Amino acid sequence: MAKTKSAYFCQSCGYESAKWLGKCPSCGQWNTFVEEVIEKASGQAPTWKTASSPIKRVATPAAIQDIQFSETNRLITSDQELNRVLGGGIVGGSLVLIGGEPGIGKSTLMLQLALNLPELKVLYVSGEESEQQIKMRADRLAGSGKETFILTETSTQHIFKQIELLEPGIVIVDSIQTLYSAHIESTPGSVSQVRECTAELLRFAKESGTPVFLIGHITKDGAIAGPKILEHMVDTVLQFEGDRHHVYRILRAVKNRFGSASELGIYEMQGNGLREVSNPSEILLSLREEPLSGITISAMLEGLRPMLIETQALVSASAYGTPQRSATGFDTRRMNMLLAVLEKRCGFRLSAKDVFLNIAGGLRVEDPAIDLGIIVAIISSHEDIPVPVKICFAGEVGLSGEIRAVNRIEQRIAEAQKLGFEKIYISKYNKKGLDTSRFAIEIKTVAKVEDVFSSLFG
Ligand code: TYD
Ligand code: MG
Repeated sequence: MAKTKSAYFCQSCGYESAKWLGKCPSCGQWNTFVEEVIEKASGQAPTWKTASSPIKRVATPAAIQDIQFSETNRLITSDQELNRVLGGGIVGGSLVLIGGEPGIGKSTLMLQLALNLPELKVLYVSGEESEQQIKMRADRLAGSGKETFILTETSTQHIFKQIELLEPGIVIVDSIQTLYSAHIESTPGSVSQVRECTAELLRFAKESGTPVFLIGHITKDGAIAGPKILEHMVDTVLQFEGDRHHVYRILRAVKNRFGSASELGIYEMQGNGLREVSNPSEILLSLREEPLSGITISAMLEGLRPMLIETQALVSASAYGTPQRSATGFDTRRMNMLLAVLEKRCGFRLSAKDVFLNIAGGLRVEDPAIDLGIIVAIISSHEDIPVPVKICFAGEVGLSGEIRAVNRIEQRIAEAQKLGFEKIYISKYNKKGLDTSRFAIEIKTVAKVEDVFSSLFG
């Protein structure tokens, strides 16, 4: 009988140590080491097909121009948002991890995908819910699901046996934390189990060319082996986020070996599942007739996708000695920098004011092109002068108060025009090479922050 071996694992990052440590040398977390039994049975344990094919294929170097590659390998699903986030459909043999907080809709998203792939056998492995529960959920969702098979099983060895019998075209695992492999003795959800099960599924995906989706849990305090250690192993990491109390959900690519990692898909959670939101500007702009002070619209890009987003600012006299500065959906340090520019370069006295900033729709914006819209919103609230409704902005603000050029300006202008805006403020430096005659919308170029204010507020 093989001797049982154990090791200590950091539950936060997966660092392995022979002895217990108080502080993890890898991630710096305290008190995260837990002993886990890792009994690697003598020799290599038989996993996915390694038992039946003892002769391992030996890899030889190949000239890069001789390697055949075809884009047709991608499976285009009916879910446009998912296709976009994956970089244009599901790649054969890829391992995709979908992370997100409990209750955000990961199982719903995956089941909906399974039900809407009629020409493909889908195996949905669930270690979390019973067949009845999944059936109940499926009844709420649209889709035929003629070729969707549900397997409630948590042992990877049994799952692989069923896969060999069924030969599915795509496998979904809900969730990786519930699986266990018989080759490792620690409990499901522990770092070594999660790692081993993922490694087995990875081997299966690569050898069979079947795409595999894994659902992974994240908890706020990272108590269980979070998907952090998995991120290195899988091809694509998608994050499903949003406020559980809001209906909008955002699917974001965090890592993608087959496409851009800055893509984003937007869904709305409805009574009958997730609905794709193909025109995000519609939800991000609140409909208003009369102009209000402190509100501006910016033309920003998320990934390659232009969208118009509303910024709200509130500037009020501070009741305490230290003014409050708070931003939702925007970096507070960057807001402080913009406030310093307004103070130093334009002479606005904001140091004794509370400043609150809010990006509509629960989105987090990192695109610097929103700077211009933000400073105009702040000044509009400070002076209590509204900005006309049909105006939008796209420009980065530099430390000396200059308006800097932003990328893909044509796309931003086109989106603003499409949504019925009449005027867009952009940087003077964006004008070079820009064919303004193509657009019906008025394009106002500005070089400095002061130019914008004098043009808007006189
Ligand atoms: P779920 O997919 O179970 O979340 P996760 O797998 O990420 O834990 O979805 C949870 C929420 O979604 C639940 O609170 C109910 C809601 N929901 C709807 O609003 N409409 C629906 O059609 C479905 C299936 C779920
Ligand atoms: Mg779930």
